[in-house]
Amino acid sequence: MPAAEFNIIAIDGGAATGKSSTSRGMAECLQLMHVDTGAHYRTLTHALLHAGAQPGQDSEIQEALDTLELGTQIDGRSAQLSVNGQVPADSDLRSPEVNASVSQFAAIPAVRQKLFDYQRSLAPVAREKEYAGLVMEGRDIGSVIFPDADFRFFLHADEATRSTRRAKEGQTDSIAARDKMDSSRKTAPLVCPEGATQIDTGPFTLKEVISQVVAYIQG
Ligand code: DC
Repeated sequence: MPAAEFNIIAIDGGAATGKSSTSRGMAECLQLMHVDTGAHYRTLTHALLHAGAQPGQDSEIQEALDTLELGTQIDGRSAQLSVNGQVPADSDLRSPEVNASVSQFAAIPAVRQKLFDYQRSLAPVAREKEYAGLVMEGRDIGSVIFPDADFRFFLHADEATRSTRRAKEGQTDSIAARDKMDSSRKTAPLVCPEGATQIDTGPFTLKEVISQVVAYIQG
């Protein structure tokens, strides 16, 4: 498909497959607004843990979710989720506590429901702000949030490559366990969306992956 005037680009894949770095690079090359939906789930997990809610406590979770007002703060090309007017620090979103429970919270339908309309509403925001399009990354973007996206990519890489990437970032993260949980949940599991272009990011540098994706979009 040739690039349209305003493109929606979905990037899905497991943990540490290079989604964020690739999406950020694409946003720079193609003047897109970038949205990291993993950060959305991390933000809600952080807020729910702060409210004392644990996975499995459905009524406490719903009660806490009802107190969270979602908003957007745009910083350059990146649109970030705010909760009650605050964007949490990246170190809070990527703490061992959040890493350990984000997949459990992300499997809860009420948590996903809280984000569904919000995430879809970011396309008109990107248009209004006159970006050339939107690149949204996550696990269910091409399958559930924007199944009609102009371009859909699915990134993957072998486990050793992914663990090395996280270790270099200084993070404690159980990549394989999170992927298993994300792929096996009932609501909006991690899947390769039908018709998505698959890219193994393992053998390539970040620059090479960005070039491949940008070349594909520009036809
Ligand atoms: O991309 P990430 O590793 O920061 O994502 C954190 C978690 O959020 C991931 O384990 C699963 C969940 N997630 C999701 O369920 N759906 C998305 N669209 C994005 C992330």
